[in-house]
Amino acid sequence: MPTVIVTGANRGIGLEFARQYAADGWRVIATCRRPDEAATLKAIAGVEVHTLDVGDATAIQGFAAALAGERVDLLLNNAGIFGPDHPRQSKDGIDPEGWLQTLRINALAPVLLTLALRDNLAKAEAPKVATVSSQLGSIGENGSGGMYAYRASKAAINAGNRSLAVDLKERNIACVVLHPGWVQTDMGGANAPVKPADSVAGMRRVIARIGLDDSGCFYGYDGREIPW
Ligand SMILES: NC(=O)c1ccc[n+]([C@@H]2O[C@H](COP(=O)([O-])OP(=O)(O)OC[C@H]3O[C@@H](n4cnc5c(N)ncnc54)[C@H](OP(=O)(O)O)[C@@H]3O)[C@@H](O)[C@H]2O)c1
Repeated sequence: MPTVIVTGANRGIGLEFARQYAADGWRVIATCRRPDEAATLKAIAGVEVHTLDVGDATAIQGFAAALAGERVDLLLNNAGIFGPDHPRQSKDGIDPEGWLQTLRINALAPVLLTLALRDNLAKAEAPKVATVSSQLGSIGENGSGGMYAYRASKAAINAGNRSLAVDLKERNIACVVLHPGWVQTDMGGANAPVKPADSVAGMRRVIARIGLDDSGCFYGYDGREIPW
């Protein structure tokens, strides 16, 4: 039975990842900040729920230490924040602390967690790390401006992932960044065109087919390669 770790699994895309991998018979280690409030996640049969605030570097090390010696086939860095509300990341007013917190959660945390779990991943036959980025982090596709903190954080994790891909290749670990589509979640809003179930099914297809040759790449949930 393969093992997947999902961060930010209590709602939205992360919850759907936990649901679908559990339904497929995977061992699912689901993390969230407040398991006491994660009733829907805890109701999924077979899911192991761990506390993890990905903004806490010490907690990341503690989480990895608790899993010492265990094989991890797939790490899903999903937890993320949009950052300051409009207009605090627009040309009309930048919130500096909010920008840095967005970087911490969206860009720093996935790198720290991936590195902390590299020995666990290296135990798998074909280990993979998939980090949920965003098309909004694509510099080439930014034709509308704004969203400074969010865009910068996703561009930063795209860069961080490329270094992870290079550095972890010798350990056979494939690392990709994914765009989930514009998805109906708390972050995406009710008008988003893509349902979490379809986004996650698409990303799972991409994850299933990737190998070391794809490491460092940026794919949409529909399999499209996204420009940097
Ligand atoms: N929805 C979209 O259209 C869309 C598009 C592109 C990319 N994405 C990306 O997809 C990922 C999931 O987004 P979503 O749409 O599912 O958003 P969401 O519904 O807002 O869920 C975000 C998840 O991240 C968790 N999280 C936030 N800060 C955390 C922290 N410090 N430690 C641990 N968990 C934390 C949240 O936990 P709490 O409940 O504790 O806050 C929640 O589980 C994010 O990386 C997002 O940037 C989403």
